[in-house]
Amino acid sequence: MNRLDATDRFARRHIGPSPDDRDRMLAAVGAASLDTLMDEAIPASIGVKRPLNLPPAESEYAYLRRLSSIARRNKTFRSYIGLGYHDTITPAVILRMVMENPGWYTPYTPYQAEIAQGRLESLLNFQTMVAELTGMDVANASLLDEATAAAEAMTLLHRARSGARRASPGTEAERSLFLVSDRCLPQTIDVLRTRAEPLDIELHVGPMEAMTFEPRVFGVLLQYPDQYGTVIDLEPFIASAHRAGVLVAIGADLLALALLKPPGEMGADVVFGNSQRFGVPLGYGGPHAAFFATRQAYVRQMPGRIIGVSVDVHGRKAYRMALATREQHIRREKATSNICTAQALLANMAAMYGVYHGPDGLKSIADRVHGLTRVLEREIAANGVTQTNPSYFDTLCLEVPSGLEAVRRAALEAGINFRYIDDRTVGISLNETVTRADVQDIVNVFAKAFGKSSHTIDWEAAESRIPNPEPRRASAFMTHPVFNTHRSETQMMRYIRSLERKDIGLDTSMIPLGSCTMKLNAATEMLPVTWEHFSRIHPFAPIDQAQGYAQVIAELEQALAEITGFATVSLQPNSGAQGEFAGLMVIRAYHRDRSDSHRDIVLIPASAHGTNPASAAMAGMRVVVVATAANGNVDVADLRRKAAEHRDHLSALMITYPSTHGVFEDDIQEICAIVHEHGGQVYMDGANMNAQVGLTSPAAIGADVCHLNLHKTFAIPHGGGGPGMGPIGVAAHLAAYLPGHPLTKTGGDRAIHAVSAAPWGSASILLISYAYVRLLGAEGMTDATRYAILNANYIKARLQQH
Ligand SMILES: Cc1ncc(COP(=O)(O)O)c(C=O)c1O
Repeated sequence: MNRLDATDRFARRHIGPSPDDRDRMLAAVGAASLDTLMDEAIPASIGVKRPLNLPPAESEYAYLRRLSSIARRNKTFRSYIGLGYHDTITPAVILRMVMENPGWYTPYTPYQAEIAQGRLESLLNFQTMVAELTGMDVANASLLDEATAAAEAMTLLHRARSGARRASPGTEAERSLFLVSDRCLPQTIDVLRTRAEPLDIELHVGPMEAMTFEPRVFGVLLQYPDQYGTVIDLEPFIASAHRAGVLVAIGADLLALALLKPPGEMGADVVFGNSQRFGVPLGYGGPHAAFFATRQAYVRQMPGRIIGVSVDVHGRKAYRMALATREQHIRREKATSNICTAQALLANMAAMYGVYHGPDGLKSIADRVHGLTRVLEREIAANGVTQTNPSYFDTLCLEVPSGLEAVRRAALEAGINFRYIDDRTVGISLNETVTRADVQDIVNVFAKAFGKSSHTIDWEAAESRIPNPEPRRASAFMTHPVFNTHRSETQMMRYIRSLERKDIGLDTSMIPLGSCTMKLNAATEMLPVTWEHFSRIHPFAPIDQAQGYAQVIAELEQALAEITGFATVSLQPNSGAQGEFAGLMVIRAYHRDRSDSHRDIVLIPASAHGTNPASAAMAGMRVVVVATAANGNVDVADLRRKAAEHRDHLSALMITYPSTHGVFEDDIQEICAIVHEHGGQVYMDGANMNAQVGLTSPAAIGADVCHLNLHKTFAIPHGGGGPGMGPIGVAAHLAAYLPGHPLTKTGGDRAIHAVSAAPWGSASILLISYAYVRLLGAEGMTDATRYAILNANYIKARLQQH
């Protein structure tokens, strides 16, 4: 390093052991140098000899300066696009004390209840708030996004109906048809397509009015308010569905439910949606906490985690994860969902937003948003535009017979995004950030587009467009004291701190519980996530307004491709398990394209993480378990036997490398070759990628696909149980099948349908991994791998003495 270059290197702060520590650790391990230890640990045949071709490490200061100029390439237009994502006001006390606070963002999943009482209480608040707003019996502690929550709703209803059939055989027809209203969100419908097909669930998408409940129908999915903003009373429809033995799931808007009759009171069986507009920034798609609520009867079928309250022998209350037997590592291929994480940090933010505003505050916000929308309708109608929603909460659907070009132009000039539904229809969704001045600006856009002079708005309250009496909300919600106590900022600050103090995160201690906790989540990596130019971008904003994101995404994709040795990467999956599902669906599409659709067997070693078989089951594959030897390695003879036995049907092998026992198996290339020889593809679970970066790679071992848990190797904090990201890398022959998206071009030419609601999943936290890559550079990342291996071997050596 030149004396005149920046002297403070990120690697020095990221990688714990000093040179002295390193030498003492090497001595304890009995290795002469780091390089000899690497040579001993990693089989020579898979070692990558050339350094990673990545830009050199930047100093933290230089990185933030460069990133702030990239950030300015994103345009923070006012967004009225809607479609499940709305601008929101994050109360500063929540921004500073939860979202930007390592006490909340670094803890691990609350497997150990005694060090997690604070966030368990907050997650219980989330569940209570969701259950009461939706009018359901129980809610879970969050899911990954609204579209995947819809898919979980579909499979829950399917199981519930199949259960009824099994209970009284002969009485029910095979039910495998799922009806989806074409007024559901487009990204939801696309993810449903991905998830329905491998399970042999037939999807009919069409108007609700045309739905008929033939015997094959097991369930229906509706949206409330729908994607165009219309609100109707769903009760008669739900009643007629139930009469036909058909169950109903409803995607709902949590804020609207402060004013609208909750779906639970209309008879819904599942209610799900996105809690983003409860104070969680848009972040170009996430992370946000999806919610999921159902009736008591289906609680055992519910995906994800549920927080419950226990009372100990002394009568003291404590929180814990309930129904944990449904966690995936236990159910394996019998699991009903592969979700093994949540969006805890964001669920906690939404819960705190509920605590901060309380039921009255939420009603006032919802009332105000509705009132402004009502005024806007009246003022725009003055321009001869027709508003087609008979009733609505916050969204207008406007028909402009003369076409939308002039509106679009005037809106862009004013820094405003609407939803352009087709050439003549425009959607406008208002939100809590909207002021009178914003409404005036929208009115001015229309005036300008129609060549009229702008007029001053008549603010006289307009009559409500929420139908009365149905489906207007009459019931109380959030009556618990926690939602009715903490009104001053000081109380709020103390409440948040009181919960934080009960928990252990990386800010207090090391948590040797899981691979998600093994990384520093550096402040420089985290800061940009809440910069306005990244946090206030709507996921469906025009691409030319998100050029900053486009640059970060492209550079991160390239870096991950280089690190994995693969041709390309999809950043869409929202967790490692979603990456597994996406990767298997890509493999499935590849086989189908080669007229090999009968290839549906996946070999999975007995030692694999439970999400592997669960994802395989979701991808419509049959799991064949491969034995593991006593040391945790794959039993190669058994693998060979099973690959040969199933050669005509072999789809893939799923293998974790290094294995879940932490060993680099010498036979890995032979294992991959056996699978290829028999027509299969190799899926590498990249959860342990922190032992590979810079030294070997999924491509070098012979894999075709892998996922990368960015919340493990690439520094995204675990947030107390999510957020995470699980991008997949693929070899060139699979690139064409990477997931697409209905609203933005992503993926390959023969893309499978979407696997997440947003085109690039939880895009805003990609910034953390991007920072990790740029701050460490090739050398620093490779050193991080070397030290991870040294640390593990050192601990082993020291423990062996006991
Ligand atoms: C080996 C392995 N595979 C897959 C996963 C699933 O990843 P995620 O929790 O991101 O869904 C994990 C998570 O801990 C894991 O350890």
